[in-house]
Amino acid sequence: MRKRWAVLISGRGSNLGALLEVQDEIQTAVVVSSKASADGLLKARRAGVATLILEKKIDWAALDAELRRRRITHVCLAGFMRIVPQEFVAQWKNRVVNLHPSLLPKYPGLQSIEVAFDADDDLGVTVHYVDEGVDTGDVILQSRCLKSPKANGYSLAHTEFLVHVAEQRLLKRAIRSGP
Ligand code: GRF
Repeated sequence: MRKRWAVLISGRGSNLGALLEVQDEIQTAVVVSSKASADGLLKARRAGVATLILEKKIDWAALDAELRRRRITHVCLAGFMRIVPQEFVAQWKNRVVNLHPSLLPKYPGLQSIEVAFDADDDLGVTVHYVDEGVDTGDVILQSRCLKSPKANGYSLAHTEFLVHVAEQRLLKRAIRSGP
C-alpha cells in the first residue's frame, strides 16, 4: 500500500518544501500546522496539498480521527513545536518520525544548533522515530555535516544554513529508506 504522509509544522516549512519537491515519490496528503501564520502553509497550498490549522489546544483524539479519515499512514514532524502526547504516539507507533538538527542523543530539545556551535562540537542531523521522550526515539538515519565549526572559521549563521540544507537532504533519504 502506498504511504500517505501527514506533515506537521509550526513555521517556515523548508523541510516540508523539500518533501513537496518529491511529491510523486513521497506523498504528502495533508499538512497540519499549529500556527495559522506558518509560511509552510503557503508552500502546501501552492502544491495543492490539503491543510489543517490547529492553533491553541490541540484535540489529539480529533486529529487522530481526521488523519485516519484521510487515510494517512505516516506522520512526519518537520519543525513542529508542540509536544505530541503519549496516547497519540502509541496509536501511531513506529509511524511518527521527527527531524532534529543535532547528532542525537547530543543536544536534544531547543536551540540545538546554537548550543553545539557554542561548544564547537560536531554539527549534524537526525531523523528518528518518536517515542514518549523528547528527541529520544530510535534513530532512522543520522548524518554529520560539520566538524568543530568555530575552529574551522564558520559563523553561526553559515553553520545554521549548512545544517538546514543537511536536514532537507536527510529527511528525504530517511523517508525513502522506509519507515
Ligand atoms: C528545523 O531545524 C527542524 O529540525 C527544527 O525546526 C526547524 C524547522 O524548520 N525542529 P522548517 O520549518 O522545516 O524550515
